[in-house]
Amino acid sequence: MTTSRRNFLKGASLASAPFILPSSLWAQATMSNDKPSMAFIGLGIQARGLLGNFLHQDVNVVAICDVDRTRREDGVKRVDEFYKGNPDKGTPGNCKAYSDFREVIARKDIDLVCVATPDHWHAYITIAALRSGKDVYCEKPLTYTIHEAVAVMEATKKYNRILQTGAMQRSSFEFLTAAELVRNGCIGKVTRVDCNFGGPSRPHADPKEEIPMEPGLDFDMWCGGAPLVKYNDKLAPRGVHTFFPMVWRMDDLFGSGYCGDWGAHHLDIAQWGLDMDNSGPVKVIKAERTDKDKANAELGGRAQSGVVLEFANGVQLKHNPFSTFGTVFYGTEGTVSVNRGKFEMQHGKELICSYVKKEDSGSLEGALAKARKAFLTDSAYKTKLYKTKGGHPADFVACAKSRQRACSNEDIGGRSAVLCHLCNMSYVRDAGFGWDPVKNTFAAGTGNPGWLVREGGYRNKWDVDALKS
Ligand SMILES: NC(=O)c1ccc[n+]([C@@H]2O[C@H](COP(=O)([O-])OP(=O)(O)OC[C@H]3O[C@@H](n4cnc5c(N)ncnc54)[C@H](O)[C@@H]3O)[C@@H](O)[C@H]2O)c1
Repeated sequence: MTTSRRNFLKGASLASAPFILPSSLWAQATMSNDKPSMAFIGLGIQARGLLGNFLHQDVNVVAICDVDRTRREDGVKRVDEFYKGNPDKGTPGNCKAYSDFREVIARKDIDLVCVATPDHWHAYITIAALRSGKDVYCEKPLTYTIHEAVAVMEATKKYNRILQTGAMQRSSFEFLTAAELVRNGCIGKVTRVDCNFGGPSRPHADPKEEIPMEPGLDFDMWCGGAPLVKYNDKLAPRGVHTFFPMVWRMDDLFGSGYCGDWGAHHLDIAQWGLDMDNSGPVKVIKAERTDKDKANAELGGRAQSGVVLEFANGVQLKHNPFSTFGTVFYGTEGTVSVNRGKFEMQHGKELICSYVKKEDSGSLEGALAKARKAFLTDSAYKTKLYKTKGGHPADFVACAKSRQRACSNEDIGGRSAVLCHLCNMSYVRDAGFGWDPVKNTFAAGTGNPGWLVREGGYRNKWDVDALKS
């Protein structure tokens, strides 16, 4: 490592004395190898992609943990096969399979952990890993509740660790360009923002029939702090599945609907462009439910779009349904619209550039270059935002080595998760409220503190507060 873990620990302990490090962290200071060892916790569809990427980084993948046997065994096989074909990258036979993440976290030789379980597990596993001296790449949305988001932000600082949230749009040039154009005043003063993604979470529904569960899945551990519900193969599919399981994402008990799923990307880009990474909205305006919404019991009778988050400067961010662009910034002089592989800029009456699909003439790179050349010239280009090198996972590894904060650090990921949950909460509770972005709580006399935590508490003490001591 550029700054060795040993030197970092020495510096950290001196700079923040009387800072008491967990004993496990001191044990790691004796690590002789500069190449960090990495573990994966949760090896579903997203982690398989991440694993493919991290294997090419300067890390040794030494542990794969999943409560599903087929997936953890498949993960270990993939690691071994990769190292067999790429002996310069690592040694086959060194990667072990685990069912219980606590055994992984207890290993003193592991430096980095990737958490890609369903959302309801993120905060507990992340904090447990941070507390044991590991740096964490945790998927988005960083947490399942607002209380957990605050706990992760605090724990990352308390244990002096590096955290990267998997909101990887921040590592794509089209989003960086959009945020830089907005932050440099190229569309004038921002008046409003649209974020376009699907609806909120839904009430949990058990399957009508009993679904037999094949052996090899610890479903109790899959449910974790959530209630132990009836097994459902759509919730926790078996085998090495090749599709994103949408059921847990949309379920009140495990996710926060599209507000947490796509909101964690598009709301995150809005925060970036609005320069709100260390703040947030001050008011949440609820959406009016249509008669169709009210009649749909499966969706909980909830509105599906229309919530508005209002910032102290009067800018309103509105949630609309999925559309061509994920985030659209409107300013007094123009608009900037962005999505993955899509970009458009309008200035006054002039369309500066537009690239939406392959059939369009030109390219995404061409469109971005045109906008940058027209507006981000040397004299006007004052605000330069964080540009990762080699992508989001590479940025995490580089930051773990340099001890610099990552592109989507705990505050960025934590505050974006807060936005996701404010949005989802407004639909679920059919309520508007005031918000205090400094204290991360409701403005006096509005909301309900019970909405910031898991409703009904956590099962089996899988509660982030249990990790505070
Ligand atoms: N950054 C992105 O663009 C992106 C894209 C897709 C998913 N994600 C995120 O990645 C995460 C995983 O999503 P997915 O689609 O891969 O879901 P998935 O259901 O396919 O994978 C989750 C895996 O975690 C395992 N798991 C559950 N509880 C566990 C525990 N206690 N210990 C170990 N393993 C456990 C499950 O068995 C499963 O294999 C989610 O947070 C999701 O929001 C991010």
